[in-house]
Amino acid sequence: MTDVAARATAGFRSAYGQQPAGRWAAPGRANLIGEHTDYNDGFVLPFALSLRTVVAASPQPGERWTAWSETTDQPVEFGAAEADEPGRVTGWGAYVAGVVWALREAGYAVPGARLAIASDVPLGSGLSSSAALEAAVLAALVDLGGLDLPAERRPRLAQRAENAYVGAPTGIMDQSAVIRCREGHALFLDCRTETVEHIPFDLDAAGLAMLVVDSRAPHRHADGEYASRRKSCEAAASALGVPALRDVAVADLDAALGRLPDDETRRRVRHVVTEDQRVLDTVALLRAGRVRETGPLLTASHASMRDDFEITVPEIDTAVEAALAAGALGARMTGGGFGGCVLALVEAASADAVADAVTRAYAERGFTAPRHVTVLPAPGATRLP
Ligand code: GLA
Repeated sequence: MTDVAARATAGFRSAYGQQPAGRWAAPGRANLIGEHTDYNDGFVLPFALSLRTVVAASPQPGERWTAWSETTDQPVEFGAAEADEPGRVTGWGAYVAGVVWALREAGYAVPGARLAIASDVPLGSGLSSSAALEAAVLAALVDLGGLDLPAERRPRLAQRAENAYVGAPTGIMDQSAVIRCREGHALFLDCRTETVEHIPFDLDAAGLAMLVVDSRAPHRHADGEYASRRKSCEAAASALGVPALRDVAVADLDAALGRLPDDETRRRVRHVVTEDQRVLDTVALLRAGRVRETGPLLTASHASMRDDFEITVPEIDTAVEAALAAGALGARMTGGGFGGCVLALVEAASADAVADAVTRAYAERGFTAPRHVTVLPAPGATRLP
């Protein structure tokens, strides 16, 4: 397939009969560790992927926005009235309209624009294709309009588009990752203060590789389950009298669990509190250059998501088990759950063998064959030359 930026440009030319004024790219992301901690004001450690969404764009007169996407080949068009009413634009166009809405809500004069979108980020695989789209559209509109919106304030705005316009109650991780990540680094984000530290994550130098296995498991009830996990965390925090589960220290976990009413809530809380600690431990190991030793933390995170937070599915657990049995140093599901992708930290020389072992395990269980790719930490959203 041709390069994604070339496809966006070609799409723009055929949809609008002219050259775009510019092109903006935003990556998908994988989360190394720290799952379902973001909306609990906790810690996450994602990195950007080299798979990207590219938006080619030009201004157009008036408050009109037209978006073409290679995925549907059906342009979406809306004006200020639709943009100002969350829910009016639906489907993938809602992510575009949501960004226009969030900018207008924040008081920006958003320029009318024509957009053409192409993407290498697989849709619905838990690699944040939606945040990539939001971030690329946002970067395009900010530059076309000469708007004053520094990078560190963009994630909140893109998140508002997703929460309030699209209607998905997600946290701040994905938008932060796709906007703020740096090449060769993972992004250590404190989701309460939004302070970040770029942690060197040099897999090559350590002789390691990160294998991403797309389980291709259909997302089962992912939206409803996500919202219900979020609700139980918020209810638990209020039962414990803290602003968020981030405020429960791992040393106080047992005492906190003793004050909770039921086993399910206790397990949800245990996941979040121990997961925050695993992020901090992973960051400490990476800072010390001990990348290989992060493996067991990744695997422990997976067990916690499987047993306590209950967000994995058989395809995902199979991929993790098969990867570990084939010698992966650690493996875990990445992203919101109920399908999506697994990360396996492997010795570079054994990446193919681990991938083959997962494929064989899927065939034995009659699952749709998984896809896999090795990745390196890539840069966040940017304007292309
Ligand atoms: C999805 C959400 C994020 C985060 C993860 C789980 O990706 O968009 O905000 O909550 O799930 O860690």
